Amino acid sequence: MSKNRIKFICSNCGYESLRWVGKCPSCDSWNSFSEEIVEDTKTKRAKALRKSEVHELDFSETKIENRLPTNIKEFDRVLGGGLIPGSVILIGGDPGIGKSTLVLQAADKINGKVLYVSGEESINQLSLRAKRLNVKSKGILLLAETDLSNILDSIKEQSPEVIIIDSIQTMSHPDFENAPGTVTQIRECTVRLMQTAKLTGCSIFIVGHVTKEGYIAGPKVLEHIVDTVLQFEGEKNYSYRILRGQKNRFGSTNEIGIFEMHEEGLVEVKNPSEIFLNERTDNITGSTITSSMEGTRPILLEVQALVTPSHYGNPQRVATGFDYRRLSILLAVLEKRAKLRLSSANVFLNMAGGIKIDEPAVDLAVCCAIASSVMDKPANNTTVLIGEVGLGGEIRGVGHLDKRIQEAEKLGFQKVLVPKISKLPKNSKIKIYPIADINEAIDRTIKSE
Ligand SMILES: Nc1ncnc2c1ncn2[C@@H]1O[C@H](COP(=O)(O)OP(=O)(O)O)[C@@H](O)[C@H]1O
Ligand SMILES: [Mg+2]
Ligand SMILES: [Zn+2]
Repeated sequence: MSKNRIKFICSNCGYESLRWVGKCPSCDSWNSFSEEIVEDTKTKRAKALRKSEVHELDFSETKIENRLPTNIKEFDRVLGGGLIPGSVILIGGDPGIGKSTLVLQAADKINGKVLYVSGEESINQLSLRAKRLNVKSKGILLLAETDLSNILDSIKEQSPEVIIIDSIQTMSHPDFENAPGTVTQIRECTVRLMQTAKLTGCSIFIVGHVTKEGYIAGPKVLEHIVDTVLQFEGEKNYSYRILRGQKNRFGSTNEIGIFEMHEEGLVEVKNPSEIFLNERTDNITGSTITSSMEGTRPILLEVQALVTPSHYGNPQRVATGFDYRRLSILLAVLEKRAKLRLSSANVFLNMAGGIKIDEPAVDLAVCCAIASSVMDKPANNTTVLIGEVGLGGEIRGVGHLDKRIQEAEKLGFQKVLVPKISKLPKNSKIKIYPIADINEAIDRTIKSE
């Protein structure tokens, strides 16, 4: 006898409604509701019934730092040093970005038994990829399966240390009548995998596709269930890929891992600055270099601005890789403090290489790139610009100045502009100019040529 009912669930945020609604009252997305069968809560409760155990706080068996490294440095950095036993990691990203490649390469390098479950590819396809990626390890078990109860049985049988589920959208549990990829299936499968991880101490990678809206695996509910959410991203026109933490119960979310996609798989990028600078052309207007911290690493990158007169009523402002509101603020500061006429100009701003930056230390480079374009004079191309710009046009201090300066020096730059208030590093070979305000910076980088 079934006590199940029909409900409508938002495929984006998991909001439940008894009627179909066009716009989600919770997350405001349109046409995101789909009909799903939901089990009566009483039956659910009965299933969940089991005896719970209470423990005394005891450090003698604490194993939290017993991490299993993937032995891919860029990957481990983002994980916070390796896999915590019993943890579940969701890896999201656009189709084709390289999620399966990344997890398969990790499976190869991990020192332990790995079960790779694919619901998307056949064993033959998986083996072909493994061959192309030059996978050497014999310790990888492959399973082409989409039925989660069968998968859980295999896990029990094999007791692997690491499990890969590729992808969660293809999985379904027979207890639920919903189709694979629905909110209920995705959520219930993830909850069961999470229970397995906690019970057995194995670590589980769950691969998920990002929907058009950019949410991992569709329902945002997943992000709350798992321990760690990583996003694998890249730009269509570039071969590099960035692995970024969005949530991490066991580490910082500031670190990024950088890879390059090659025929034979993902290759770690040891010196990111070189990639982000390598397409730079000398002596063009609107281009500056800054040093941005990505986690604990400084990365030098080019900021590009293009300012053109607007012939229509509303000037266009487009920011790629940079916060749009922050750009508006900086434009207002430049207008008021540096007397640049920008209110009726189109402004296009781009972080070259397609990287996304959200730290204020790049403000100075953004401002000088815009000024260079407005003034139609190239900025000095051997200078690196570091500093936050305040509303008064003053240059404010930034963190990790030493590391940023070191990176500029390492890559052969001759001058660096830094906030005046900073404590300066000793014995640097690079020339350091402490700068108090935006006008001083413009004078030094653009006018002095
Ligand atoms: N034969 C090949 N030679 C070179 N690169 C390939 C080849 N096959 C796939 N790739 C690269 O791998 C990417 C697909 O990676 P994959 O791990 O399957 O992505 P995902 O699992 O995220 O959908 C492709 O976009 C392409 O860049
Ligand atoms: Mg894949
Ligand atoms: Zn919603």
